[in-house]
Amino acid sequence: PQVCWLSPEQTAGKQKPYMYTQGQAVLNRSFFPCFDTPSVKFTYSATVKVPEGFTAVMSATSWEKQKDNTFVFKMSQPIPSYLIALVVGDIVSADVGPRSRVWAEPCLIEAAKKEYDGVIEEFLVVGEKLFGPYVWGRYDILFMPPSFPFGGMENPCLTFVTPCLLAGDRSLVDVIIHEISHSWFGNLVTNAMWGEFWLNEGFTMYAQRRISTEIYGLPYTCLEAATGRALLRQHMDATGEDHPLNKLRVVIEPGLWGINPDDTYNETPYEKGYCFVSYLAHLVGNQNKFDAFLQAYVNQFKFQSITADDTLRFFLEYFPELKEKGVDSIPGFEFDRWLNMPGWPPYLPDLSPGQQLMRPADELAELWAADGLNMEAIEAVDVTGWRTYQLIYFLDQVLQKSPLPEGNVKRLSKMYPKISKAQNAELRLRWCQIVLKNNLEAEYSKVKDFLHSQGKQKYTLPLYRAMWGGSEATRALAMETFSATAPQLHVNVQNYVKKILGLGGGA
Ligand code: BES
Ligand code: ZN
Repeated sequence: PQVCWLSPEQTAGKQKPYMYTQGQAVLNRSFFPCFDTPSVKFTYSATVKVPEGFTAVMSATSWEKQKDNTFVFKMSQPIPSYLIALVVGDIVSADVGPRSRVWAEPCLIEAAKKEYDGVIEEFLVVGEKLFGPYVWGRYDILFMPPSFPFGGMENPCLTFVTPCLLAGDRSLVDVIIHEISHSWFGNLVTNAMWGEFWLNEGFTMYAQRRISTEIYGLPYTCLEAATGRALLRQHMDATGEDHPLNKLRVVIEPGLWGINPDDTYNETPYEKGYCFVSYLAHLVGNQNKFDAFLQAYVNQFKFQSITADDTLRFFLEYFPELKEKGVDSIPGFEFDRWLNMPGWPPYLPDLSPGQQLMRPADELAELWAADGLNMEAIEAVDVTGWRTYQLIYFLDQVLQKSPLPEGNVKRLSKMYPKISKAQNAELRLRWCQIVLKNNLEAEYSKVKDFLHSQGKQKYTLPLYRAMWGGSEATRALAMETFSATAPQLHVNVQNYVKKILGLGGGA
């Protein structure tokens, strides 16, 4: 079941079936025989024969079409099992850069090309400048069917992404920068065990924001990081700070009480991991020196699988003066505490350079949260020129203050159709969360429509949690929506939703 077989109705074009694999974390063992642990790396080759009218693509450095609809692939660099991926479908491609093309079903290819034409190369070039050579040859992007459970998956040479990224305005490009960053952190230097998943994702978040800072500047990048921090806050509030999954180093054990590596996919390895890497940079105190360290780190451990101990030992060896000062055991900030204690990060990077973009959003959210709305002040704020991430940040603030006084959300909805009728998936998610938290029954259908339109895990689970934690009406909405959409969800996502709805899933 971990190899996904989609019927024609589950694709964008609705004409032909489609199959894809998603290896991370431990699903590829049901795809081919392997040592399914990130501690083992190997090269691979594959010969794939498909029916007439279909194309096969894989995460490989070379791709060749032979006669009889047979495709031959070779990955010439050693990779862990979870990075092997295959798609077979009615897909076509278009060039978007000197070493990049987009792949998609024919009905999406125009939009895909338009979204990323000419921008990918710049991300690669900045990544290479910061972290060293890009060793994977091509960097292509495959737009997946709507039920793909992730925003992006860094399969080498060929990142898989949700079609939700086709926002029309490149506003969700941070996901692409994130997956490109895995070309160094994760795919070259790999966590040796899933209990240290933060080594992949925390360093990648840091690398993503370094590239973003170089290209879009510090204020915008801090704004994006602030939305990440809000997600971490929501996650820790929902699970409790002391939850064992809110440690960077998670204890994964087999058996009934053990944690499945797939369950460690939450905001902690990403955003707390980002804070820890930012803390290391803060200890160094100089961006250029820390950038040089990251490059040396990649060079030291490329094509290997390592543990956090390896990382931190290398850090202290690279900066002997810090080692001498004993920075690994400063009370309250011990490396051991970062790794092994659950809870809110002891250090938060300074995001105040983003204030110029956040303050207007903070102030507007204040106004909307008030009893007796000050419409004059509200109307004086023009949000039409705001960037998507400013709107996202604004909605996170509104959500945090929700439920708002009776009637406010209804007016907010009317006032900003750009938000309440948005097509952008990140805006739709937040708007649906606000609708649910404020019991805005008139717009429940938007929650249903959104959940029918895509199956990304990070969008699906929070909405089911909100529905299940709400009224009788929202619980009914959850049940109705799940029974209609379950067959099109990835099996992992199905099981997580079943768990939320008390349907005995998640085994
Ligand atoms: N490697 C992850 C996706 C993943 C994690 C798949 C764990 C399976 C198990 C990917 O790089 C990722 O982090 N995607 C994010 C992008 C975001 C942080 C910009 C996503 O899908 O939301
Ligand atoms: Zn990632």
